[in-house]
Amino acid sequence: MYDSESKDFGDALPEAELLAFKKIINNIYRCRGVDFRQYRPKCLRRRIIVGMHDVRVNSFVEYLNFLIKNPEAYDSLLNRITINVTEFFRNQETFKAVRLKVIPEIIKAKKEIHASSIRVWSSGCATGEEPYSLAIMISEVLSELRENIKIRIYATDIDKEALKLAEAGIYKEKALKELKGRQVNAYFKKNEQGLYAINPEFKSMINFMHHNMISDEPLPRMDLIFCRNVIIYFSKELQKLVYDNFYKALVPQGYLVAGKTEILMAINESCFERFDLQERILRKK
Ligand SMILES: C[S@@+](CC[C@H](N)C(=O)[O-])C[C@H]1O[C@@H](n2cnc3c(N)ncnc32)[C@H](O)[C@@H]1O
Repeated sequence: MYDSESKDFGDALPEAELLAFKKIINNIYRCRGVDFRQYRPKCLRRRIIVGMHDVRVNSFVEYLNFLIKNPEAYDSLLNRITINVTEFFRNQETFKAVRLKVIPEIIKAKKEIHASSIRVWSSGCATGEEPYSLAIMISEVLSELRENIKIRIYATDIDKEALKLAEAGIYKEKALKELKGRQVNAYFKKNEQGLYAINPEFKSMINFMHHNMISDEPLPRMDLIFCRNVIIYFSKELQKLVYDNFYKALVPQGYLVAGKTEILMAINESCFERFDLQERILRKK
């Protein structure tokens, strides 16, 4: 059962409303297998209210009744909760710091052990802009340094619809606003509908996979993990669990990039050192 404290909701909710809210979260788990029971109630509440407004109801009780009569509406509610908002090179400064300080260190370490590939995980990749940005950035650094190391990117999400769009790799112009004109011309092909398709070269570097960072085994031997704008929705206990999973997933001295909005309280200081606090870059100890 959903059992988060009601005090965590922000404004107090009447008993019936609280009960309906908890039932909605439990039903999502039962009907769709996605477990939001330990996500922060305040964030969930905001997202569910957006879902409520989509179907013009004004209370959790009414919404629960609506969902019971229209179970297919759980799909759009799920989309509302998982919000896939993202863009290419989101938070330019973070990408700049990773490009200048992190990637060269990883390449150096790889050369020392004669490794043939760099392994990167974009966890909570939404519609793919983040892993494609990583593919573009790392390819550019490797070509500047004239290094011939393979790039393997694992891009995962719990949202299957978002993953389908990610795999298609076709974007509206506004998703590309942080890219330089030269990069758009070199890495995308504009189609007849005015949409931009990413070059197959970058697609081939990325494995898109359905994966729940809370309940699935962490992926192994990662040099770099990006997990941004996801775990802000998680309770402190879940955040801790996810950071522990990322610790397991990383090679020694591997890097974890959390989002600018993430609070790093759940980080275990004996596991990670703060490599660049401003850009939320951590290094495994
Ligand atoms: C706001 S998007 C962030 C996209 C990208 N990381 C960025 O910062 O631009 C959050 C994504 O996290 C995904 N997500 C939420 N909970 C997840 C979980 N437990 N495991 C994997 N992905 C999750 C959502 O489906 C959504 O696509």
